[in-house]
Amino acid sequence: MPDLINLQLGWPSPSLFPAADLLNGASSILESPKKTAAALIYGPDAGYEPLREQIALWLSSTYNIKSTPERICVSSGASANLANILQKFTEPEYTRRIWMVEPCYFLACPIMTDAGFEGRLRGVPEDEEGLDIDFLRTSIQEVEKSDGHPDTPSVKTNRTRYPRVYKHIIYAVPTFANPSAKTMSLRRREDLVRLAREFDALVVTDDVYDVLRWPEDTQADADAVHLPDVPPRIVDVDRTLDGGPRDDFGNAVSNGSFSKIIAPGVRTGWNEAMPAFAHALSSLGSTKSGGCPSHMSATFVAEMLASGQLQSHIKDTLVPTYRARYNTLFRVIREHLLPLGFHISTGKPYAYGHISNGATNGHAQSGVVVGGYFTYLTVPDDLPITADQLAARGLEKYDLKFASGGMMTVEGDEGSRERAVKGYGRGIRLCWAWHTEAEIQEGIERLASLVKEVRP
Ligand SMILES: Cc1ncc(COP(=O)(O)O)c(C=O)c1O
Repeated sequence: MPDLINLQLGWPSPSLFPAADLLNGASSILESPKKTAAALIYGPDAGYEPLREQIALWLSSTYNIKSTPERICVSSGASANLANILQKFTEPEYTRRIWMVEPCYFLACPIMTDAGFEGRLRGVPEDEEGLDIDFLRTSIQEVEKSDGHPDTPSVKTNRTRYPRVYKHIIYAVPTFANPSAKTMSLRRREDLVRLAREFDALVVTDDVYDVLRWPEDTQADADAVHLPDVPPRIVDVDRTLDGGPRDDFGNAVSNGSFSKIIAPGVRTGWNEAMPAFAHALSSLGSTKSGGCPSHMSATFVAEMLASGQLQSHIKDTLVPTYRARYNTLFRVIREHLLPLGFHISTGKPYAYGHISNGATNGHAQSGVVVGGYFTYLTVPDDLPITADQLAARGLEKYDLKFASGGMMTVEGDEGSRERAVKGYGRGIRLCWAWHTEAEIQEGIERLASLVKEVRP
């Protein structure tokens, strides 16, 4: 048992890294002079073509909607790609605000700030179904009513280089969210797309946990969660809703990553959007000079997808392991934390259902789909200290680390800070991806001891 139990870390445990599969991918590239030449030379702007093809095939089967390589641009991971999206499609001032679902993925804030948006980030609360659309609508309307917004970009005026600059950015993690663990309902996704179209906003979603999903029912067949049971990505909703996208660029982009399903160190991801959007993104200055920065890794990943090893790794290793850890975590939460007054606050669950499970046993099944890396709990009402203080005390006295709500405020937004004090700041985020089941159990027992010590 390690001294420190770290339920904060949103990282996959190293024991789950598919090193042998990666080695196969690397060998298949480096033992072929032709593939080696392609892997070790500068890459194409939109990324290694075989990877774009493989991603398109894989996403088509994952989301049950046809993807094509023209819609895909390979990236160096979701974080780097977020910066690229802002660089290409925004101009601070013309782009009025960046709206971030709160509690927010806190590491996204500095990416926004670095893109010139200091003081322009705004939080949008979540309710049981995900992002609060009415709050967002009213807030955007207020911003639009206030004076001083340019009607056209004043710097990024070259339409060849900057074919599309949006007035607003809306950033969300709609499925198995980091940190709230909520999954946005379908109707909320549709409302969000309509709102984005109305106000010239680009919805950027980090869809980095979607494929890690399983039935909540511990007895249900893992395969019961079928392809159509995945909530459609917002980029897919934009593709199909009310006659499809409003222009060639659309109002949504999906930011994907291999960090959580292969390993963060491969620094490879992708984005999917309208072909014109993907093409514009691939024409960033830094990309034009050398191609995607993770080019060689991308060639290994392409081999892993083409051989089916990545798909098997997800199905046969990651999902069963995370499912077992999830089940253990919730068992000990129910046993030790709920009686102390903790609440599970992960919103309305996403239901799958009545899908004929023909691939495995022919039974129709339905239930709740869960997944990703995290859960979010609200600390007991009668706790005399804040969740942030509880986390600090846990580290100091119990060698226990977990993320607390105060970390999840939207940088520089006073309203977000105030809402944290009243609401989501009383939450803690727990991750099951880093530790073994025994370590998770130990961590929750330490948390229970900590709470018993600090409460009256
Ligand atoms: C919502 C979200 N986006 C992005 C990332 C980072 O992705 P990448 O490693 O591809 O940069 C994470 C990792 O924790 C995440 O939770």
